[in-house]
Amino acid sequence: MLITRKAEFSASHVCSNAELSPEENERLYGLESRPNGHGHNYVLEVTVRGDVNPVHGMVLDLKELKEVIRENVLDIYDHRFLNREVPPFDKVVPTAENIAGDIWQRLDEPIGRLGSKLHSVRLHESDDLFVEVCEPHAK
Ligand code: NI
Repeated sequence: MLITRKAEFSASHVCSNAELSPEENERLYGLESRPNGHGHNYVLEVTVRGDVNPVHGMVLDLKELKEVIRENVLDIYDHRFLNREVPPFDKVVPTAENIAGDIWQRLDEPIGRLGSKLHSVRLHESDDLFVEVCEPHAK
């Protein structure tokens, strides 16, 4: 059984790589590369896999899942300038792909401690773009 909890956070970022020329960054990332940054209202979907507990009829305690997401993602990401305030994005380009990968790393172990298994992390950067990290592709 899969169960998904949604959460939202707002954050700013700049997508550029210091190893590339300004022209190359502009070509790759377009407006995303402007140095003063810009914000997104990210929508996060965390999907957890497990069996339904026969006693309480749930895969896991949803209050605990909400708390794990708050503590390990929202408290760290919300209203932050990712490149300046949230490692590893001082060194890693904060694309939706890299943010979703980082969120997977932050959630995998705490969700395991709840007795469940993280199945996927889906991150919507805008209405028409989302990325999804699934177990086989995560580190
Ligand atoms: Ni952006």
